[in-house]
Amino acid sequence: MRIVETKDLTKIFTTRQKKGNIIALDSVSLGVDQGEVFGLLGPNGAGKTTLVKTLMGLTSITSGDALVNGLPPGNPGSRQQVGFLPENPRFPSHLTGRALLVFSGRLSGVSDDDINSRLKPLLVLVGMERWADTKVSKYSKGMTQRIGVAQALIGDPDIVFLDEPTDGIDPIGKLEIRGVLEKIRDQGKTVFLNSHLLSEVEAIADRVAILSRGKLVRVGTVDELTVHENQYEIEADIGNERIVIPEEIGQRVSITAKSMTVSLVKPENINKVIDELRLRRINIWSVKPVKQSLEQSFFEAVTEGPEQTA
Ligand SMILES: Nc1ncnc2c1ncn2[C@@H]1O[C@H](COP(=O)(O)OP(=O)(O)OP(=O)(O)O)[C@@H](O)[C@H]1O
Ligand SMILES: [Mg+2]
Repeated sequence: MRIVETKDLTKIFTTRQKKGNIIALDSVSLGVDQGEVFGLLGPNGAGKTTLVKTLMGLTSITSGDALVNGLPPGNPGSRQQVGFLPENPRFPSHLTGRALLVFSGRLSGVSDDDINSRLKPLLVLVGMERWADTKVSKYSKGMTQRIGVAQALIGDPDIVFLDEPTDGIDPIGKLEIRGVLEKIRDQGKTVFLNSHLLSEVEAIADRVAILSRGKLVRVGTVDELTVHENQYEIEADIGNERIVIPEEIGQRVSITAKSMTVSLVKPENINKVIDELRLRRINIWSVKPVKQSLEQSFFEAVTEGPEQTA
């Protein structure tokens, strides 16, 4: 089931400044499945926060449609089903972590009984039990984000939107948050994660979308986004044989005594390359698509412009 669905979602900010209107979201159509960790990547200013804010009903939509849990964004009926951790959260500093969770729960219309029964497991989940009675103003950035994740979950939502949950946090803090996100996923919840940290998204997201200047330029699994189109690495006993690949088939990218990488005009041509090797009685041990890093794929996506929407 699709828990988030947008169709041609567009958000234009009108400004009085010289630069005129800003198209923060340009006809974004995407779907997020129930139970997945969905990573929304994009450089600064790409529109990630705007997208999450429109889905939360905190920013109006200029045109297009969006549904979250089958309801229009901001519908009061979805207040408890949707959790949110904003970018750079500033929680009321006089509250303790525990009081913040109570406050957030009441804001989302959760009963005091439910709040009381959820407090302890949530504090344990985010590793903040020891600090529950310390004021939020004393928390480190990592602790603030962890209590922030807990407050997003107090309504026991089906989906949580987390906007840059590990921004400005040290590597250990990042790892801890990643562990928390994995536990949330294991509870069957959907996690919508905004980030410009590729390695983080690569490590945890089931599917990734790349936003660039308001446009969705790629959507897919990390595997799909990192496969180098039509490039294959062949492990084979090539020795010092000189293998020439006709131009109409493709070209050789690299060759060693034990392997060869080819870039083909079309994927089926891999068979022609294999035929050529076998004709020379060369043993073939493996043939696999070449992967590029998500970083490389991200860089290509944001520099070459729109390719696909889904
Ligand atoms: N309230 C606003 N009024 C005018 N322009 C805005 C407003 N909010 C965002 N923008 C503009 O919309 C564009 C998208 O901004 P947004 O904050 O969604 O990007 P982002 O991908 O979250 O960036 P970052 O990685 O820095 O958080 C930017 O050009 C930004 O300046
Ligand atoms: Mg942002």
